[in-house]
Amino acid sequence: MKRILHISDLHFGRLIPEVADALKQKIIALNPELIVISGDLTQRAKTSEFIQAANFLNDLPSPYLIIPGNHDLSTFRLHERFLYPWKKWQRFIAADLEPATETAAYKVIGINTARRIGHSSDWSRGRIDASQIKRVQDFFASASAQQIRILVAHHPFWLPTGHEHRGLIGGADPAIEKFQDNGPDIILSGHVHLDYCHVHGGIIVSHAGTTTSDRLLEGYPNSFNMLEVQPEHILISRYHWSKGEFAYLTKQSFIKQSDGWYEQ
Ligand SMILES: [Fe+2]
Ligand SMILES: [Fe+2]
Repeated sequence: MKRILHISDLHFGRLIPEVADALKQKIIALNPELIVISGDLTQRAKTSEFIQAANFLNDLPSPYLIIPGNHDLSTFRLHERFLYPWKKWQRFIAADLEPATETAAYKVIGINTARRIGHSSDWSRGRIDASQIKRVQDFFASASAQQIRILVAHHPFWLPTGHEHRGLIGGADPAIEKFQDNGPDIILSGHVHLDYCHVHGGIIVSHAGTTTSDRLLEGYPNSFNMLEVQPEHILISRYHWSKGEFAYLTKQSFIKQSDGWYEQ
C-alpha cells in the first residue's frame, strides 16, 4: 500500500508552533510517499505569512502537492485581491495553482476553488467551474486500473449533519454528476476545519481539519489523515492532537465496486 498524508488549513499567522513541530516529526515517522496540502496555507495572505509557510514547506521530508484556499487571497487589500490575487502565492509557494502528479499507484490533481468574488454574500465559499471539471476528467481519462484517482480541492463537496450552514462548493451537484464518468475515486478537502470521511455519489469525500492552527471548532482538535491506497481499496487513518502529540484515533476502510466506492 502507498501512503499519502493529507494535511490542511495550516493558517500561518495563526499557527501553533508546537503542533507544527510535532507534525514534522510525525511525518518523518510515517514516511509518506506524498503530502497533500488542501489550502488555507495562510491566515491573511500576508507576505510574512507566505515566507514562514515557504520555509516550512522547504523543510518537509516528503514531496508535497499544494493548492490555495480562500484565506490565501487578501481580504483587506482589495487592489491585491482583484488585480493580482495569486502573485504572492506564485512568488513564494508554487507557480502552478493547479498542480498534478502521478506514480504507478495514483494520479493526483489539484484545482483552485477560491474566488475573488463569490456568487453568495459569503466570498469565502468556493466554486468549481465547467472547465475545471473537464480538466479533471481529461486528467483521469488516462488512468490505469492500478491507479487511484485523487482530486484535491479546498472547499467541501459534502458536509456532515449540523454543518450544512457552511455551504457546499458552488457547482457541487453538477460536478459529482459529471464525475460519474472519468471522475476521482476520492476528493481531499479542508476549509471547514472538521475531519470526516463519507461516500457521496460513489466517490469518497475526505476532509482534514486544521492541522496546525488555533482556529479550532469546539470538539475538533488539530488533525490530519493518512491514506493507504491500493487498487480498489483505500484505508484512511485519522490522527488527532492529544496530550502534546498527534495520536492515531480511528481508521475507515473503503472498497471499490462496479458502481462506486463503499465503506466496509
Ligand atoms: Fe481554513
Ligand atoms: Fe477556507
